[in-house]
Order: sequence, then C-alpha cells, then structure tokens
Amino acid sequence: MTQLRAVRGMNDMLPADAALWNHFEAVVRDWLKGYGYQELRTPILEHTGLFKRAIGEVTDIVEKEMYTFEDSLNGEILTLRPEGTASCVRAAIEHNLLFDGAKRLWYMGPMFRHERPQKGRYRQFHQVGVEALGYAGPDLDVEHLLMGARLWKRLGLAEFVQLEINSLGGAESRARHRQRLIEYFEAHEGELDEDARRRLYTNPLRILDTKNPAMEALVAAAPRLMDELDAEALAHFETVRQGLEDAGIPYRVNPRLVRGLDYYNYTVYEWVTERLGAQGTVCAGGRYDGLVGQLGGKATPACGFAMGVERLLALMAEAGGAPPQEPLDAYVVNVGAGVARFALQAAEALRDAGLRVALHCGGGSFKSQMKKADASGARYAVILGEDEARAGELGVKPMRMEGEQQRLALSAAAALMKKD
Ligand code: HAM
Repeated sequence: MTQLRAVRGMNDMLPADAALWNHFEAVVRDWLKGYGYQELRTPILEHTGLFKRAIGEVTDIVEKEMYTFEDSLNGEILTLRPEGTASCVRAAIEHNLLFDGAKRLWYMGPMFRHERPQKGRYRQFHQVGVEALGYAGPDLDVEHLLMGARLWKRLGLAEFVQLEINSLGGAESRARHRQRLIEYFEAHEGELDEDARRRLYTNPLRILDTKNPAMEALVAAAPRLMDELDAEALAHFETVRQGLEDAGIPYRVNPRLVRGLDYYNYTVYEWVTERLGAQGTVCAGGRYDGLVGQLGGKATPACGFAMGVERLLALMAEAGGAPPQEPLDAYVVNVGAGVARFALQAAEALRDAGLRVALHCGGGSFKSQMKKADASGARYAVILGEDEARAGELGVKPMRMEGEQQRLALSAAAALMKKD
C-alpha cells in the first residue's frame, strides 16, 4: 500500500517546532496589544467572487494560484482564502464594524496558494495580518511601518530585515502610468511572453510582476509610476518618509515595487531579507483606499500589511531559535500493585496546586521509569510505591540538584516543588 502523505506544499507543525511557533505567537499578541489592535477571525473558505473582485481578475493569485472548487452539495463556487485582506473587509462590511468609527484589526491563520513549493514558499502558509480601516492620513502608514520595526526588534531580527517602500499614487496617476506602460510594451511587443501579451490591455501593471528572467531587462526599463505621481500623492509619500526618518528607521525607495494585488494605491512596502534566498519578503502591505467601496461598503480609506509566519520562523531559527522552555516540575514514577490509581490522583492533586506534571503511564521497572523521568527534563521525580500509596504520601527526589529523596504529605510535597 502506498504511504499516506500530506498534500504537497502543506506542512505539519511538529512538536519540535512548537516552542518557536508559540514564542512567535506570544510575542505577536503582546505586540498587537501594545498598539490597541483587535483580533478578527474569518472563515478559511469564501465565495470565489470576493477574491476576484478584491485582488483583481488579472493577477497571478487569481489566475493561477487559487484553490477553487464547486461545493458538490449545493453548487456554490468557493475558494480557500489566498490572503486575509479581502475577508477582513468583507466581514467589516457585512457586520457593519465601522458604524462607530475607524477600526484597527488583526488576524492570524493559514492561507492557501497553489504555487510551486520551495524553501519559504508553501501551498498552505500562515500570515499575521494587520488592517486599519477608516484612516486616510499618512500617520497610519507610519504607524504600520513603526509596528514592523518594533516587531523585528522584539523577535531579534532587526539586523536581518530591510524596508523598501514606494508610492503607487491615486487613480489618475495610475491611469496615466497605465497608458505609458501600454505604449512602452507595444513598442517591444516581440519581447513579451504569453502572460505579458495577455495582460497588455487588461492589466499592464501586472506585467511588472513577471518571474520570467527573459523579461527582466525590459521590465527594469519600463516607465515608473513614481514619475507620474500628482502633488497630493507626493505629499502623502513625503510625510511617510519623514515619519520613518523621525523614527530612525532606514529604508530604500524602490520605484519598481508594485505588489502583486490590484487593490493598492499610494504607499506600498515590503520588508525583505537576504537570508532566505529567493523568498526574501517576510512582510508586505500598503494602502488600499478603494477596496471597501469596491466590495460594496461606504467609501473608506484603509491600509494594512501581512507577514509570512514560516519565513519569519526560518529567520528566527537562524538567529538562535526559541528561548529555553520552562521544564516540567515533576515526573510521577509509579511501581507496584494498585499504585497506578493513587498516582493518577496524586498527579491531579499536584496540578491543582499549580504544578506542571507528567504522569508515567504504561508500567515498567523502577529503573526504566527513572530514566524516563530524567529524559523528561522534570525538576523532580515523584516516586510512588505500595508503601506510599498505603500512607497517602509522596516520595520526592530532586533531579537537577543535589538532595536526598524525602517522603512527604501531598501539600508539603507540592510546596517543596513549587518553592525553588
Ligand atoms: P502578500 O505579499 O501576497 O500580501 O503576502 C504577504 C506575505 O505573506 C508575503 O510577504 C510572504 O511573507 C507571505 N507569503 C505569501 N505567499 C506565501 C507562500 N506561498 N508561502 C509562504 N509565505 C507566503 C498579502 O497577502 C496582503 N493581504 C497583505 C496586506 C494586508 N496588504 C494590506 N493588508
């Protein structure tokens, strides 16, 4: 029989990785509290139309990467979410979350894209996303960039991550740029690949996302959005840059940065690292002032960003991994007729007293159980035999420091193990 395997590009989180994931999630929750963001959880499945409308029909994600299927029970066309912004905006509109003003929201969870798997690129991956709905000013863009910088510091990654920013301007500058791009690519039609030719009149900006090395030089010389920005967009961008400079956050303006999703305008950015090879973007986002209106809500300015958890964890692993885990307080060894019942009760009572306890299950000799106690890393072995069970007392032996085994009543044993 063939061996069962996980779906390609989808990973198990194994117990050995749990400490790092938990550390990351704990830091993230605390960091978000520090900025007053509220958690939102949305379903993993949405109607396909949501992503088509939000991300754009002519994008890599919508054209090539979505897990879309027909629900065989009712014929609905559904998609495993490839990102979180669309769902967040859908939920905000559906539940009228903005009725009493702007909202700062965040989410964490799995996303799905049918890309070619490689290091740092998976078909199921995880994002932490942050969205601020109802804020028009560049102060919120700056807040988000400062948040990023603070998080990298708290995760010990500050020296590995650099910021690149750009402005895509508003609708008019984009329309002008679009026309320039069409003229430019028409003049080089012979050099366009099939994707680019198809996108030429539908979404020429997306030609700039090409991963085809043969088109690299052509794309690098294409007209730049930056050159089309109007005064308002430039002023917004200047204020964002000023905010970064005030905060002492180094950055590079990258006029080629256009992002792969259609909903952006004005500020866009990516936090990138050179340590992860080709998949170096660990976090990305920007402003999307048109999206809420486009999805049927009242026109509402907004901006946000999302980070790739697997990529950040890979960086953290390089930078030293998880901080040491708190050890177990006690490992309960039990040998003898009828002792297992007493051991079960004793372990529960120790947990009632607030201790972290592993109970040995499955029998075995005293020697082999003591070996397991040692391997568990527990600070104490609680040793129970027939004598202890009869007396209702515990044998307590320190495992990580000098000291004799003592026989104690339950409360005294708990107090001793808690003390140091
Ligand atoms: P995105 O750039 O498509 O933006 O994804 C954000 C981050 O998710 C990437 O920078 C990367 O770290 C991670 N990521 C994306 N695809 C994969 C993959 N296949 N495997 C591993 N990690 C991946 C968005 O999704 C926007 N919703 C961000 C945003 C929020 N913009 C405004 N608000």
